[in-house]
Amino acid sequence: METRTLPSTLPADSSINEQGHLVLGGCDAVDLAREFGTPAYVMVESELRERADRFLKALAATGMKGTIKYASKACPVVEVGKIFSSMGLGCDVTSGGELRIALLGGFAPEDILFHGNAKSEADLNDIFEHKVGLVAIDNADEVATIAARAREAGVIQKVLLRVTPGVTGDTIAAISTGQEDSKFGVNLPDAPAVIKAIQSEDSLELRGLHLHVGSQLGDTGSIARAAAAIAPLGDFPVVNLGGGLGVGYLDGSPDGDIEEFVAGAAAAAAEHFGPDVELMLEPGRALVATAGVTLYTVETVKSNVSTYVAVDGGISDNLRPLAYGSAYMALSADRVNDQPDTPCRVVGKHCESGDQIATEASLPAPKRGDLVAVPVTGAYGHAMANNYNGALRPPVVMVEGGKARVAVRRETWDDLLARETAGN
Ligand code: LLP
Repeated sequence: METRTLPSTLPADSSINEQGHLVLGGCDAVDLAREFGTPAYVMVESELRERADRFLKALAATGMKGTIKYASKACPVVEVGKIFSSMGLGCDVTSGGELRIALLGGFAPEDILFHGNAKSEADLNDIFEHKVGLVAIDNADEVATIAARAREAGVIQKVLLRVTPGVTGDTIAAISTGQEDSKFGVNLPDAPAVIKAIQSEDSLELRGLHLHVGSQLGDTGSIARAAAAIAPLGDFPVVNLGGGLGVGYLDGSPDGDIEEFVAGAAAAAAEHFGPDVELMLEPGRALVATAGVTLYTVETVKSNVSTYVAVDGGISDNLRPLAYGSAYMALSADRVNDQPDTPCRVVGKHCESGDQIATEASLPAPKRGDLVAVPVTGAYGHAMANNYNGALRPPVVMVEGGKARVAVRRETWDDLLARETAGN
C-alpha cells in the first residue's frame, strides 16, 4: 500500500510504520494507546528541544543580550520544565502552582519571573520564600505591598513594570491583552507615576518594562507598535516584549516563524530601547504546541446530517475549540495509509453541543474502536484540562527514541473523589 504524506501539523519526528500506524518519537501510537490508555497527550521530546534551540539560536544571532523565559502556563509539566531548564531557558510563572512546577523542573529561582494581575498574599509568600528572581508588577496597588514584603525579607527585589501599551494584538479578542481597557498592566498615561513610585522604594529595583500584546500572533507587527508606545517611559536595562508567537493548527497552515519573531522583537527592542538593552521574551505556545498530539479512541459513529465521530475525550482535555472557536485537524492513528474519505466532525463525549474537537475532519471510514490523533495539542490542552462531567484528566506521555515515559499520570477515580468530604 502507498504510504501517505503526513500532515505538516505533526512533530518532525513522526512517521508511519509497516502496520500503517502513526509513530511518534519512535513509538507506535497503537502501542502507546494500549499501554497508557486514551485520551492521552503524547509529547515528542525532540520537538520541544528543537523549538527551544531555535529560540536560543535566533536570540544569539541578534547579538543582543537576552533571555527566553518559557511561559509555563502553556504546559505546566515538570518534565517539560526539566528539558527547557537544562537548555538554559528561564521560566515565567503566574501562580504558586506554576512556581512549584517550575522549581521541580529545575529552574533556578533567579531565572523565574512571577506574573499576575491579582497576586494573593499566598503568592507573595511564595515569591519571597522561594526567592523568585524577578516580579512583574501589574498595578499601582502592588508597589507598596511588594516593597514592604521585600523590606521584611531583607532583600532588594528586582521588578519589571507591566505596561498596557494601548495596542491591540493581531489576534482574537479573548487572547489579546495589550489594548487599552485591559485587565493587565498599568495604562500608558498612569505608568510614569507608578515608575516613580517603584523608584522611590529602596527595597525595589526597577529593571525595566514588560508588555505582552496577545497570543497566537502571526508576526511582531503589534509587538513593534507596542514597544514604540512604551519606549518614551524611560531608559531601563531590560525590556520584556512578552510571548505570543502563534502556530499552525491545520494541515498546511503556516507556523509562526521563530527566527523572524525573535529578529523582529530584537529589532524593535534595539530601535526603541537601544542596542544594549537586555531583551526578554516569554513564549509559551510556540515552544510546546507542536510537540503535543492527543490520542483518542472512537466510541460512536453516527450520521445526523453530518457524520459525528465521538471520541473518549473532548472539552475536558481540549477547551480551546469551545473557548476560542479554535480549529483542529484529526487523522487516523491506526490506519494512516487508508484514504481519509469520510468528511466528519470529531466530537467529544460531553453534554454540550460545543464539545467539538475537529469540525471539518476527514477520516478513513471511521468506526468504533479506531484510534484518532489530534495534532498541535501541546499548548493549553493539559494546562486547561478539567473534570467536566466527572472526566478524568489524561496523562502526559513523553516519547523519544522509541521510549515512552509518563510525565503526568492519568487521574483516577480516587483523585476525583479525594476532595469530596461526604463519607470521608
Ligand atoms: N506572557 C504573558 C504575560 C502571557 O499572559 C502569556 C499568555 C504568555 C506570555 C505566553 O503566550 P503564548 O506565547 O503562549 O501565546 N489559553 C489561550 C492562550 C492564553 C494566553 C495567556 N497568556 C489559548 O489556548 O489560546
